Amino acid sequence: MTPALNVVVLAAGKGTRMKSELPKVLHPLAGRPLLTHVLAAADSLRPERICVVYGHGGDKLPMAIGRADLLWVRQEPQLGTGHAVQQAVPYLDPQAVVLILYGDVPLIRPETLQEMVLIARDGAVALLTVRLNNPAGYGRIVRNSRGQVERIVEHKDASAEELAITEVNTGILCLHAAKLMRWLDRLGNDNVQGEYYLTDVIGMAAAEGERILPCHPSAEWEVLGVNSRQQLADLERVLQRNIAETLMTQGVSLSDPARLDVRGDLICGRDVHIDVGCIFEGRVLLGDNVKVGAYCVLKEVEVAADTEILPFCHIEGARIGARARIGPYTRLRPGTDLDAETHIGNFVEIKNSQVGFNSKINHLSYVGDAYVGRKVNIGAGTITCNYDGANKHRTVIEDDAFIGSDSQLVAPVTVGRGATLGAGTTLTRDAPPGELTLSRVRQFTIRGWQRPKKTVKGES
Ligand code: UD1
Ligand code: CA
Repeated sequence: MTPALNVVVLAAGKGTRMKSELPKVLHPLAGRPLLTHVLAAADSLRPERICVVYGHGGDKLPMAIGRADLLWVRQEPQLGTGHAVQQAVPYLDPQAVVLILYGDVPLIRPETLQEMVLIARDGAVALLTVRLNNPAGYGRIVRNSRGQVERIVEHKDASAEELAITEVNTGILCLHAAKLMRWLDRLGNDNVQGEYYLTDVIGMAAAEGERILPCHPSAEWEVLGVNSRQQLADLERVLQRNIAETLMTQGVSLSDPARLDVRGDLICGRDVHIDVGCIFEGRVLLGDNVKVGAYCVLKEVEVAADTEILPFCHIEGARIGARARIGPYTRLRPGTDLDAETHIGNFVEIKNSQVGFNSKINHLSYVGDAYVGRKVNIGAGTITCNYDGANKHRTVIEDDAFIGSDSQLVAPVTVGRGATLGAGTTLTRDAPPGELTLSRVRQFTIRGWQRPKKTVKGES
């Protein structure tokens, strides 16, 4: 029978160099906490158990991640990576293989981990190592004369000769639980940092003649950790570049793959074009041939085929139908549902409203808590007065209505089918269908009226 898989994620460290109140592994990468990325990689292996060792920042971490299926193990005080894994031992299945991950190494690929799990299930110790041009700070992989891994020496404990080694320990490790437990029992802290080093397990394994098989990542970025804000920003760029590559491979055109930020799931149809500087948050769906202009922010949005979003739009929690034209400078807030062929123009804000087929709201308007029918034309500067200071009220504008510019619709109010409102109307009662309604003071002229003249000093 293949042994079960248990994952241990180490995330108790302080993250001093982040200079932050927020626990390090909660810092966001592509909009999600670092730890969430690691957990996603772990989840993809379908492990029986995932154990997260936490400490610094206290219960903020389990609360922010909010996953009841994880085993949260508190490490207090933090006496090193070996000590951290020791805290997890009571929660591990002794028959399982254990994969050790770091909460601050977020870009590790499932394929790399899968290979390590296979090696461990086959009875060996899988150790992820990498050659670095600048190995400073990392534990070095010491090999014997036959090229076999003998032990790991931490940078601070290394001799000048060992410091010259460029193959380093990534920290990621996979091995049988029973062996791990046996070796952990024997860990000491007789080293420069006075810590219990997980890495000493490798020396014990080698001394017992265990097979230690080094594995390597497909790219260096897989094993890069976050210790500082600079490193976090570097990994953000790596991840965004990877996301851009994937999108282009799927057939999306990007004006500049270096100027795109996806902080969630961006799902695109065929021949989507995205101009520079756009940010996509949460789940965003773009249908075939959708064009998104420069510097748009889209969060939790669904856009149907052939719609064009012009530059500088801010769209959240909205659904946009096919062949629509939005922007430039449109703001769509949650609950906006635009039907096909709608035109929404500059400085228009829409919230919690339905807008029917081929209706147009082209300039400087606020539409909130409204139902707008088909083929409605809303003139420049129209406002739905939906809030009376205490409650929100609905505005209904039926099909084919025409709202003159600079009108205010004081909700609750209905504009009947085919009705016309004269420009400048303040509508406080329903406008009957098919009729012209206006609420305007009649225009009049005072004949012979003279402008006042400026009085000159000295005269009176
Ligand atoms: C560790 C390795 C080193 C490797 C490097 C890769 C050891 C002794 N050294 O060194 O060989 O090259 O990672 O980045 O393992 N943590 C805890 N509890 C603790 C201490 C650490 O949970 O008491 C967690 C940290 O949150 C972090 C991870 O373990 O996620 C690594 O800890 P860190 O202090 O960064 O280890 P290094 O000294 O860098
Ligand atoms: Ca580290």
